[in-house]
Amino acid sequence: MLHPDIKEVLYSEEEIAKVTKDLGAVLTEEYKDKYPLVIGILKGAVMFMTDLSRAMDCDLELDFMDVSSYGAGMESSGDVKIIKDLDTSVEGRDVLIVEDIIDTGRTLSYLIEIFRYRKAKSIKIVTLLDKKERRAVDLQADWVGIEVPNEFVVGYGLDYIEKHRNLPYIGVLKEEVYQ
Ligand code: XMP
Repeated sequence: MLHPDIKEVLYSEEEIAKVTKDLGAVLTEEYKDKYPLVIGILKGAVMFMTDLSRAMDCDLELDFMDVSSYGAGMESSGDVKIIKDLDTSVEGRDVLIVEDIIDTGRTLSYLIEIFRYRKAKSIKIVTLLDKKERRAVDLQADWVGIEVPNEFVVGYGLDYIEKHRNLPYIGVLKEEVYQ
């Protein structure tokens, strides 16, 4: 049953699974001999990361990083704080950053700077969703699952004040929920 806070389902569980499987096949080819360090950005990317990594038929290492980049509102401030750092060194590694959604791009440009400084061999980005029209900095993902319209979306890892991450689909919130 549709959650009462959801106005509309944008992508069903089946659609997300298909996109993830297709990305997994492409990434398998890209990384089959590289033993990449696959870095999930907490908490939003958790669902995507677990499904995507299982769709990658190659050896890889998983790690997580938790950053906070939001000010008081719903927009990224660019003032990124590391809440949890990696357990692994990125030096000399082929790094694949796994994101749930790219919005302004500020969070990822900050992370890329950090991983460059820490001497990663290569740094690439895969994101499930991309809100391209909202970009505030020059940043592009190497692989994008779905381009999304400029609406606040939740589900499949994405939250509104920590709620709705466990919805199996991605949907748009009703305005009255956040107004
Ligand atoms: P930036 O702006 O730095 O932000 O690219 C990326 C992070 O912003 C969050 N974000 C959203 N979260 N629904 C959400 O639940 C959205 O529509 C949305 N847009 C951006 C998300 O945490 C992402 O990692």
